[in-house]
Amino acid sequence: MSALLSLKDLWVEYGDKVVLERVNLEVAAGSFVSVVGPSGAGKSSLLRVVLGQEQPTRGSILLDGTPLAPECGPDRGVVFQRYSVFPHLTALRNVVMGLELEQAPFSARLFGSARRAARDRAAEMLGAVGLGHSLDLYPAEMSGGMQQRLAIAQALIKRPRILLLDEPFGALDPGIRADMHALITRLWRDYSLTIIMVTHDIKEAFQLGTRVLALDKRRHDPHAPHRFGATAVYDLALTKREEPSVDTGPETTLVTREDAA
Ligand SMILES: Nc1ncnc2c1ncn2[C@@H]1O[C@H](COP(=O)(O)OP(=O)(O)O)[C@@H](O)[C@H]1O
Ligand SMILES: [Mg+2]
Repeated sequence: MSALLSLKDLWVEYGDKVVLERVNLEVAAGSFVSVVGPSGAGKSSLLRVVLGQEQPTRGSILLDGTPLAPECGPDRGVVFQRYSVFPHLTALRNVVMGLELEQAPFSARLFGSARRAARDRAAEMLGAVGLGHSLDLYPAEMSGGMQQRLAIAQALIKRPRILLLDEPFGALDPGIRADMHALITRLWRDYSLTIIMVTHDIKEAFQLGTRVLALDKRRHDPHAPHRFGATAVYDLALTKREEPSVDTGPETTLVTREDAA
């Protein structure tokens, strides 16, 4: 079976600074790839090129065997560590906005039945991330964990096949992070997603991933630290036992810990 996503001899350079070099990666559909590596190794840069936000300076990216369109497509969604939701919109409007931008790119407004359908879909997606009772809240009225749930709903509303996560839980308290792990595992399974997640937390990388990829420099030039970039220094496929179902039942059970906080 051919890979859903393949990076071939990929380089990312900023001026004379080499950030990534010779990255080769084949990502099978349905995998959950955890990406680890020191700060500055180019993890976020890697996600940006996969997202299509940035062009690699060399090499190619194939999605389903076809070169990636030079822009962000609906097939890829992204969640950053924080600040990706619109502060002036309610949870529901934040998620509807994603559909509006897709379906009405010029006016970003839907009307009549299209608008009702978008609202229904957005409300359903918010339910799926455990925010079914928070549709009318503004981000400032939400905990950090709830805001990340909202960001995930915003990314998933367009039904991407690939979800890119850049340290999505890094700013959250450990207890809330555990809830988010259960959530992302469930969404990964329920929506048949392929996930690439950057994390600083090695335990999280192994716990969630079906594969752990480490980016680091293989060679250093002490006189010119910019000369060499990072590449995949190890790439571990994890064989996991079938885990007990983390079906948490109704969506509300997922937010209890945050509600109590
Ligand atoms: N747009 C840019 N212009 C110049 N340098 C950049 C740019 N984006 C990132 N960098 C540099 O590339 C390196 C890798 O950055 P990044 O991908 O954010 O690393 P990581 O996410 O692993 O911490 C850093 O040294 C950063 O300063
Ligand atoms: Mg980063």
